[in-house]
Amino acid sequence: MRLLATYFRRFLKHRTRLVLGILSIPLAQSLDVATTILVGQALDRVRTSSDVDWLTTTLLLLGGAALAHAFFRFWQRWLIVVVSRRFEVELKQELFDHLARLDFAFHDRSRSGDLVSRLTADVEALRMFLGPGLMYTLGAVVIVPISLSWLMTLNLWLGLSIGLPMIAVGVIMKRLTPRLHRESTAVQESLADISHRAQEDFGGVRVVKGYHREGAQARRFDRASAKNRDNQVALGRARGLTHAAINGSFDLTFAVILTVGGLAAIDRTLPVGSLFQFIDLTLKVFWPLIALGWIAGMYPRAVASAERVDTLLATRSALGEREAGEAPEQAVAGALELRGVGFTYPTGTKPALRGIDARVEPGGSLGVVGPTGCGKSTLLLLLGRQMDPQEGAVLLDGRDLRELALPHARGALGYVPQDAFLFSVPYADNIRFGAEGDLSDEEVAELIEQAAMTEEVARFPEGAQTLIGERGVTLSGGQRQRTCIARALARDPKVLVLDDCLSAVDTETERQLLGTLREAGSGRTVVVAAHRLSTVASCDEILVLDDKGSIAQRGRHEELLEAAGWYRDTWEQQQRREAGNREVAEPEGGHA
Ligand SMILES: Nc1ncnc2c1ncn2[C@@H]1O[C@H](COP(=O)(O)OP(=O)(O)OP(=O)(O)O)[C@@H](O)[C@H]1O
Ligand SMILES: [Mg+2]
Repeated sequence: MRLLATYFRRFLKHRTRLVLGILSIPLAQSLDVATTILVGQALDRVRTSSDVDWLTTTLLLLGGAALAHAFFRFWQRWLIVVVSRRFEVELKQELFDHLARLDFAFHDRSRSGDLVSRLTADVEALRMFLGPGLMYTLGAVVIVPISLSWLMTLNLWLGLSIGLPMIAVGVIMKRLTPRLHRESTAVQESLADISHRAQEDFGGVRVVKGYHREGAQARRFDRASAKNRDNQVALGRARGLTHAAINGSFDLTFAVILTVGGLAAIDRTLPVGSLFQFIDLTLKVFWPLIALGWIAGMYPRAVASAERVDTLLATRSALGEREAGEAPEQAVAGALELRGVGFTYPTGTKPALRGIDARVEPGGSLGVVGPTGCGKSTLLLLLGRQMDPQEGAVLLDGRDLRELALPHARGALGYVPQDAFLFSVPYADNIRFGAEGDLSDEEVAELIEQAAMTEEVARFPEGAQTLIGERGVTLSGGQRQRTCIARALARDPKVLVLDDCLSAVDTETERQLLGTLREAGSGRTVVVAAHRLSTVASCDEILVLDDKGSIAQRGRHEELLEAAGWYRDTWEQQQRREAGNREVAEPEGGHA
């Protein structure tokens, strides 16, 4: 309850609309009751009087009351619906912002489907309970006592006897609502499962087809559909039961009115006009009572949703608050340093990195190589403060990254991840994504040129405006990688971090590209991880990591070639393969 109150406080931000909406409720309800009473009394008077003057007055009154009733009814709904929708949008926005700022580790352990359902289903449950829930509760609180007490003054026994089935319907609704919610949640979950499966299968369509798994995937989809069908049937049953219970109570109440009231009318102890009032007011009171039961049944769900949303909002990023830390007094120079860095993933059993010491001067370059899984990507993520090391420190211009505000720690950095992810937006917008401000078409064209993509982009159906497929599937691996480089260059970063992002580009294009990057980046610090050693050969220093995440060797390319070890072996192997490839590509060349 306390939690729901904190969410209700967000409603109070829209105080004026809310108060006006709430004030309209008793007005609308009293006018509703008044029209019934007017008609009922007129019915009795019509039988005894032949005068028409009063009838005109009554009709005018009735018309006025009906108009005012319609106005307040509309006003009440309109105001409260607007407030509740604003609440919904604001809460969703706040949750989304919060989730987007949480660190990698949080997103690694959360399923995106769960986060989506927090954003949609839980916020919706809160909105329903606080918005329409409040409106229907207040409506019932006004109309039920007024109507029932009025009816009791007309005929005490009849009033009492219809009170009972009416209260019963509220109780039935309160009991059935949780079941309705349970079944509808199950339906939603199975629907989400269906769309998740379809999405994954279509997303991975190349893998599915490559392995001829269409049949097996279709069967998995069938099972998910069958589950959804069963859930829909169960929901239908619960709904049917609810409708039957409501209609049954309705009919029972009318049977009571007709029996007790009808007998009284025949006896002439109850005028026909009063009988009409019983019937009409019963109709008007019934729905608010059903709504009241429905809201009472919704309460546990609203509390659970409030708790879940609250847990998320209370989750703090392991990296501290977004704005925490200092902004550096002067512009970033780009000196990077790792001091005794050790890092273990929250879910990892052994350290991914141990005792890493390294330093790159502004404008210098560092290569990171080593066998797969040795910790290259991890090291690069630490440089952008996507995570904090448990041991040692990462320093930018001599300042521990943890002391700097996150936007400053990351703002100076252009990061190209190992998996070249692109958004399904026009090609140029993927590049603009990297920039802090907006970029002109000429600036984008310049970046495309730097990424050695100009000719290929010109061949796209609509050039730089071509819409890219989901995750970038309509581009080749190498095109995706170079586009990611252009995106990183878009912010003209002081530090460029490249995580094996030239692996799908041929050696010639790579050489050309690295040349441009260095030229364009005179004064730019470059850290590059790679499998292909030619990528790092010209770096000022190269770190060779071993499979335990420690530095096995370090030095310049020439120095490393002189010492026996992983670097020299791998270099020779790669050179032989490269030469082999060249021979296959140019069979007639090089033979005497
Ligand atoms: N999010 C994660 N959670 C837990 N462990 C992880 C995570 N990411 C990587 N690891 C583990 O940390 C180690 C280092 O991984 P990392 O990705 O840094 O290697 P890498 O050198 O980049 O490999 P590759 O050459 O294949 O790109 C690996 O053992 C990996 O299994
Ligand atoms: Mg990697």
